[in-house]
Amino acid sequence: MLSISVKEFLFWKKTQLSKGGDHQSLALLLDSVGGISKSDLNALNINPEGNLYLKKNLEFLESIWNEHLLKSCPIQYLCEITFWRDLKLKVTNKVLIPRPETELIVDIVFNIFREKSEKLFFAELGTGSGAISIALALAYPLSDGVATDIDQDALEIATKNYINSSKQTNLKFYCGNWWTPLESFKGKLDFAISNPPYIPRHTYEKLPKEVKNYEPKVALLGGEDGLKHINEIIQKAPLFLRERGWLILENHFDQGEKVKQLLINNKFKSVEIVNDLSGVGRFTIGRYK
Ligand SMILES: C[S@@+](CC[C@H](N)C(=O)[O-])C[C@H]1O[C@@H](n2cnc3c(N)ncnc32)[C@H](O)[C@@H]1O
Repeated sequence: MLSISVKEFLFWKKTQLSKGGDHQSLALLLDSVGGISKSDLNALNINPEGNLYLKKNLEFLESIWNEHLLKSCPIQYLCEITFWRDLKLKVTNKVLIPRPETELIVDIVFNIFREKSEKLFFAELGTGSGAISIALALAYPLSDGVATDIDQDALEIATKNYINSSKQTNLKFYCGNWWTPLESFKGKLDFAISNPPYIPRHTYEKLPKEVKNYEPKVALLGGEDGLKHINEIIQKAPLFLRERGWLILENHFDQGEKVKQLLINNKFKSVEIVNDLSGVGRFTIGRYK
């Protein structure tokens, strides 16, 4: 641990932000690499006297910050860490950085299945860093979950994140195309959940460079109209869900009505578009018969 004066540190922090970037990214760097949490930072602003202890020196932290600004590389990839709900997750450029707006998908499940001691069986399709299914496996400790991804490297990260977050053994990971690795679970799922790639091609081409140059294309691109994967997931879901099992999907901000129609066309009932915290119809849910 390195000791420096709080005043020197606060001056350094102000200088870094004056070069560009945002408070949240700098806070992530300070927490994950420097060892200074958000609550430490708040306390320093209130009482800027005395010294503080850093895990790495300011020059090292500054070199990461400069790389973030110069190359537009997400700070989460440079630090190999992100925070999502109450989880601290490893992320590399093999997985999408789980987004704050996706956090709500877990609350949708909490609203449907209110009893945390329920013995559910659930699947997450396209788990990436494992964020959604790890949060669910921890919240429903008596349940069992299976999580899939097409990318073996992503599954290695998800498995590490699960081991680091929990001593439980109620989540298993499988590699393969959407439902394919789950053949032996046909008709058994209480619910399936997915935040699949849903960006239409023309939108993908125009994504900001910090997304397009660093995050995996396979995690973002949803074919020409963005609905390629959502369509495939919905069409096969009836084979895997129990009677009255739920399908819970995240979609692009303007796809809610189309996804709703796809669910209705595939004989889902209780179909509903759920808004995110900004009032965007980001999730679509339905129950199979
Ligand atoms: C939008 S990311 C979501 C990741 C994570 N669930 C989250 O919410 O942060 C989509 C994920 O689907 C995976 N994926 C893409 N195509 C797939 C396919 N055909 N079968 C299974 N997984 C796929 C990607 O590798 C990626 O991890």
